[in-house]
Amino acid sequence: MNLIDQMHSTDTSLQGKHVLTWLEYDQSQISYLLARAQHIKENPYSQALQGKNLAMVFEKSSTRTRVSFEVGMVQMGGHALYLNTKDIQVGRGETIADTARVLSGYVDAIMYRTTSHDKLKELAAHASVPVINGLCDLYHPCQALADLFTILELKGRLAGVKVVYVGDGNNVAHSLMILAAMMGMEVVISTPSGYEPKASIVKEAKKLAEKYNGSVVIEQDPKKAVHDADVIYTDVWTSMGQEEEAQERMRSFDGYQVNTQLFMTAKNDVSFLHCLPAHRGEEVTGDIIDGPHSAVFQQAENRMHVQKAILQAAMGRG
Ligand code: CP
Ligand code: NVA
Repeated sequence: MNLIDQMHSTDTSLQGKHVLTWLEYDQSQISYLLARAQHIKENPYSQALQGKNLAMVFEKSSTRTRVSFEVGMVQMGGHALYLNTKDIQVGRGETIADTARVLSGYVDAIMYRTTSHDKLKELAAHASVPVINGLCDLYHPCQALADLFTILELKGRLAGVKVVYVGDGNNVAHSLMILAAMMGMEVVISTPSGYEPKASIVKEAKKLAEKYNGSVVIEQDPKKAVHDADVIYTDVWTSMGQEEEAQERMRSFDGYQVNTQLFMTAKNDVSFLHCLPAHRGEEVTGDIIDGPHSAVFQQAENRMHVQKAILQAAMGRG
C-alpha cells in the first residue's frame, strides 16, 4: 500500500473539525487521514503539535485509548491531561456545557469517553476546540479508523474487502459498519436476535455503501456470514456498563463464538481482528486470537498512529 500521494492534497477542511461518528466525514477525508497515519507510522517523532494540549476526559476505563492518545501527543511535542470524571467537577454536577467552555479556554482539543452519545454532542456543541469521541454508547470512531488502517496494511486495499463482524451489534460494530461502507468495503454483521446494530445506523451505513460501491448485509447465521470472509472481527459480548446482563448475554451469544469451526468457510488468508480487551473462551477462542491469523496487537498499536493523524488534522498543523 502506498497512500503517501494523498498527503500532497493537504486537506485543511479538517482543521477544528470534531470526530463524533465519521458520518460528518467523506471518503476523501478518511483516505487523507489514513495516508497521514501511514506517514506518521513511518516517521513517529515530530514537533507537529509542539505547545498543544489535549484534555482526555474519561467516564469509563481504558488502556489503549488513554495510553495511545497520551503517548501520541508526547511523540508530536504536545501534552495530554488525563481527567477522570470522578475527579473533576463534572462528577459533582457541573454541566457538560460549562465544562466544554472552560476546557476550551485551556486546551487545543478534547477527547471524551462517555456513557452517552448525547453527552458527547453536548460537549461538542459548547466547545470551541475540536472534540474527539474516545468511545460512547453508540460509536467508537477512533477504533474504526485503526481497524481500516490495519486492514489496509494486511490486504493492501479496502474497496471490495469482505469484513464480517460476529457478535454484539454495539458501538464498535456501528463504527466499523459506517467507515467500512464509506470506503467501499463489503460489510456483513452477524448478531443474535435482539442484539442487532441500531436500525437507524444500519440505514446510514447502507446509504454510504450505495454511494461508495460497498455493501452492508445483516446475516443472522454466523456460518453463512463468514463465507469467503477476508476479515473476521469480534468484540466482547458484554460492553462496559452492561455487567448486570453478562449471564443473560452469555446464553444469548451461544453459537456466535469466533473459533476454528467458524473460520472454516472464510478465505484461507482470513485475518482476525478484535478491538480488545478480549475475553478468551467467550467471544473468541484462545487458538484464534493468539493464532497465525490474528492481527489484534498490530491493530491496537495502530490506534496510536491513526489518532495522531486525527490530532494533527484537527489541530491544523500540516
Ligand atoms: N479498544 C479500546 O478502546 O480499548 P480501551 O478500552 O482499553 O481504550
Ligand atoms: N464494546 C466495548 C468496546 C471496548 C473498547 C465497550 O463499549 O465496552
